[in-house]
Amino acid sequence: MELRLHPRAQAHGKTIVLGEHSVVHGYPALAAGLPGGVTLTASPRPDPRQPSTLRIPAWGIDLELRVESEHPVARAALEVLGHCDGPLTGWAIAAQSTLLPGAGLGSSAALTVALARLALGPHADVGAVVEASLAGERIFHGEPSGLDSQVAARGGLLRFVRGQEPTPIPLSEPLPLLIVPSGVERRTAVQVAQVRARVERLPALGRPLLEVLGRSVDEGIETLRASKGPHDRARLGEIMQVAHGVLAALGVSCAALDALCSTALRHGALGAKLTGAGGGGCVLVLPGDDPRPIIDAFTQQGHAPISFVLHGSSPSTASPTLP
Ligand code: PMV
Repeated sequence: MELRLHPRAQAHGKTIVLGEHSVVHGYPALAAGLPGGVTLTASPRPDPRQPSTLRIPAWGIDLELRVESEHPVARAALEVLGHCDGPLTGWAIAAQSTLLPGAGLGSSAALTVALARLALGPHADVGAVVEASLAGERIFHGEPSGLDSQVAARGGLLRFVRGQEPTPIPLSEPLPLLIVPSGVERRTAVQVAQVRARVERLPALGRPLLEVLGRSVDEGIETLRASKGPHDRARLGEIMQVAHGVLAALGVSCAALDALCSTALRHGALGAKLTGAGGGGCVLVLPGDDPRPIIDAFTQQGHAPISFVLHGSSPSTASPTLP
């Protein structure tokens, strides 16, 4: 049978609303699909024995997918395609991405999910797509919880526990949020190892911190489900504040992220926290009624806030758009 790729595939970016790091240790997390993500197109090369290529201009990536390659993107891409019994040579794959790479917005999971869909097709079982994505994600992140791949494949707002089917979370009202990239790069695997080391050194302190993060998820979900206006949004903001403080206590905030959170709060945000692995990457901001002073303050500081509205099952963009 001739091995083929499908001509086009897509996957979402993501932001973690609550529960990063504790999710690695078995607690729940709440994460949202971003409206933007990765779109791949595939076309056959003239000779099927030629190495496949992967071009992602937005990330400065232009690779030949050779088995001997040490580039993590090439290794991950071949791993995903191999996992799907897809063709390993003879295809030119091009990506369009609205996601900043390495910023905790799920860029690698979006890429690996889209690659799996190129091989398995648009109607493939989402569980199979996630499994294939994880084969590539392990190359990037060691032992990922699987949260990123689930959100990249499904979108919407999901409660996720490692090893379980995610639960879609409906919202009683749309929730406007801002993501602010710090511009500081970090590696998820390094941040995850740092948390593990702290919890191992100081288990009597570290384990309760992870538990509080886990509890923040269900407190947050309860608040979102019941939300009927400013009072409930303020409560969610407070939960985000607690989560940021606990993540800082676990050692994964940094001066740049703390400064972004302070700017947001000084200009009327109800809550602000790091999102993703921390140590850099992005913060997530819950604005009050008027997000403009917050957006203006960040813009004046040279940041490019990303604004989006969460609708529970399917988020949609507002301006400013994803970069
Ligand atoms: O790669 P990031 O920045 O989105 O972080 C992933 C979230 C962690 O909980 C820190 C790791 C994981 O595997 O869930």
